Order: sequence, then C-alpha cells, then structure tokens
Amino acid sequence: MRKVSIENVECGTKIAKNVISSDGTVLLAAGMLMQNEYKRRLNANGITDLFIEDDISSGIEIPDVVKQEIRTEAKALIKDMVNKTTIPVNINSSKVLELVEKIIESILSNDQIIFSLSDIRSVDDYTFEHSINVCIISLIIGMSIDLDENKLKELGVGSLLHDIGKLFINDEILKKPDKLTFDEFEQIKKHSVYGFDILKSNNDIAMSSAYIALGHHERVDGSGYPMKLKGDNIHQSARIVAIADVYDALTSERVYRTRQKPHEVVDYIVSLSGKQFDEELVNAFVRCIAHYPIGSGVVLSSNERGIVTRFNKSIPNRPVVRVVIDENGEMLVKHKELDLSENNSLYIVDVWEM
Ligand SMILES: [Fe+2]
Repeated sequence: MRKVSIENVECGTKIAKNVISSDGTVLLAAGMLMQNEYKRRLNANGITDLFIEDDISSGIEIPDVVKQEIRTEAKALIKDMVNKTTIPVNINSSKVLELVEKIIESILSNDQIIFSLSDIRSVDDYTFEHSINVCIISLIIGMSIDLDENKLKELGVGSLLHDIGKLFINDEILKKPDKLTFDEFEQIKKHSVYGFDILKSNNDIAMSSAYIALGHHERVDGSGYPMKLKGDNIHQSARIVAIADVYDALTSERVYRTRQKPHEVVDYIVSLSGKQFDEELVNAFVRCIAHYPIGSGVVLSSNERGIVTRFNKSIPNRPVVRVVIDENGEMLVKHKELDLSENNSLYIVDVWEM
C-alpha cells in the first residue's frame, strides 16, 4: 500500500486502510474502490490523503505505531474532557493513565520502535490528533533514552495533556488564520502556566507531568517561554515534549499554513540542536523518527523514483526503496528493491508526490 493525496487517486483504485472520521465512524472501508462521491465525502471531513493498494505498492505494509482503536479511544477521551470543561477543570486521571499504559504497550509491541507519520489526519481534528501524536513521539524518545516505567507513564500523561491550558484561551485567537498580534500571542503564551495550574492541582497527576505543561515552550538557549529557562533548568520531560510538539505541529496541515515534509522538519530540528533543543534528546529523536515514511515516494540521486518499503533503524535517512520508475522516467515492469544502507553512492534527493 502507499499514501497518496486524494486528488491523485483515480476512480476504481482500491482503498487499503479504513478511513475514520473525527467521531470514530468509518467513512470508507479497506477494500472499497474509489468513486468521485467518496472523494467529496472525504473532502467534507477535512481529509486530504488516504492509503491505496496498487501494482507498484503491493505487498508494502504500513505499520501503525499505535493501534487505530487506541487512537480513537484517546481522541474521544480528550474531546470529552475538553467539551465538559468546568472550573476547576476535572481531569479523569485514572482514565488518562489507563490510556497512556495502553499506548506504551502498543508502542512496545512493535518490533521496530520508530515513528512514522502513517496515520490519516483530518484538519478539523488537529487539537486531538496533535495531543496523541505528541504523546506517542515523546514516549518513543523516552524509551530510546531508557526512561524507567514510572517516568515513561508521567511523560505520557504530561505529553497527552501538554496543551490542556489552551482550554482557557479564547477560541478566536487559537483558530485565527492570520498572523497573531503581539497581545494575542501574549494571551496564547499563558496556556503553559494555565496548564501547569490545572495539572498540579490534581493530586493523582505527578508534578513532572505538570512541569511538561509548564515547560514545553521553553528552549534550552533561554529563548522560550514562560520563564526563559535554560538547559537543565527545564525539566527533561518538557525538553522531550518540546521536540515532539514542534515536529508534529510542522508536519500537520493547518488552516493558516500547509504542512512540511517529515525529513525537512527533522533537518530543521537538527539545525536547532544545542540551541533551542537539547542536543542529546535531538540525537535520540533522530534515531527513532522515520525521515521518509513507509509508503511515501522518493526521488533518488540516480533520478530513479520509488516507494519506501522499510526503515533502516541504524540509518533512518537511508531506507529500503522499491524503484518503480527508471532514470529515464520509464515505468519499470519489474520493480527492484534498493537498500540505501548498502548503496552508499545513492541517496534521496527529493520527495516524489505520487
Ligand atoms: Fe503548547
């Protein structure tokens, strides 16, 4: 299977994975054949991509780091919390912890713990999907630096709820499609402190989880907010979530800007390593994030084009690629698999929008 944008899918193409709407209903089921009416249905739900199965992608399996059911459950839980806002905010901490334990278990059941943007997201559901992705990415980073079970759980809870303070920020500012004014940005910045207050007042939530809400916009060079803390003065879990938060935000489609490609965002974060982001944690992040997601198209330095079929965990920017178009632009009848970790003369020069 491979991931394509809906406008590029021809009618009659087989859909490879269920497409789920924001409320958890199946909009399209795996195995259905694309029709124009389905495209309209997906557009109306803010969905821009989907997985298809065709000749060039047959046999490519795209793993879910966290099972779809758990994602749906997480989304429902967060939505419920947000919708039933009372003051003081009532967080169902036992449910949150239960969910975090399921997410950890689900990640650990993968043989290769690596994060790949393999899910289909709706623009409308940004807040919920973002919380879940930040939680998953943070946990993967936490696992790769060998945090113990307790610390992982606290990291999971804090990262899932890192933006809970936005409940107290005016929706018009949060969803504003234009550039924010100075005053509006000052308002938004307060969500860190609001979130800290909400989490620390809940006795079942660890202080380290509350420090994530407080410190996820701090930067190790002191350029962040709210307290302009530097280096190790920022809680380690908050330094992890800072990376996960920026990665997921920039790779997501938003009302005010288009998404950036995963490898570009990885490069951006690496360029700020030791400046805005903790160097050691950026190194851990780079080891466990797919620069080119499985099922995505790439252009090689040989001018051949292909689809990523597998990661090389040791060299995440050199995956295994199934070449389907040769250097002259001709479709190959017989595809060939190239392991870029074994072909040092070849490298990826661009993303192929299929
Ligand atoms: Fe935030």
